[in-house]
Amino acid sequence: MERARAVAQLAYAPYSKFRVGAVVLSDDGRVFDGVNVENAAHPSANCAEATAVGSAVTAGVRKIAAVAVACIDARSIDHAYPCGRCRQILSEFNPEEVYVTDGGAEFRRHSFDELLPFRFSL
Ligand code: THU
Repeated sequence: MERARAVAQLAYAPYSKFRVGAVVLSDDGRVFDGVNVENAAHPSANCAEATAVGSAVTAGVRKIAAVAVACIDARSIDHAYPCGRCRQILSEFNPEEVYVTDGGAEFRRHSFDELLPFRFSL
C-alpha cells in the first residue's frame, strides 16, 4: 500500500486531479508500478491498473498474485475502488486479491471474486 501511495504521486492527472497508483505483484514475486495517464482527448486516458498490467505483461508476467491500488485524492476509501474496465483487465491474469486505499492509513483487502463475481472469460 505504501508503494502504491508513493507511485500515485507520479500520476499524470491534470484534468481530473484524481491521482491513482497501482502496484501489481506477479506470481513469481516481482512488482510493477502504474499510474493513470490522462490526455487532452479525455477518452484516450489510461487507468493506473491498466498501466501496471501492461508493464507486467511486457516483462513476461501471465499470472498476477495481487494488486494494490491507491486513489490518493479520493474523498473516502469507498471512492478508491478499481473501475469496471480495470477489473476486467486484471481478471485476464487471475489475481487472487486486491488491496485498496485512499490517501489515508486505512486499507481494505478483497478477494478478486468479491470485486468481479460471475466475470466474463472465454
Ligand atoms: N482511474 C484509475 O486510474 N483507475 C481506476 O480504477 C479508476 C479511475 C483514473 C482515470 C482518471 O485518470 C481518473 O482516475 C479519474 O477518473
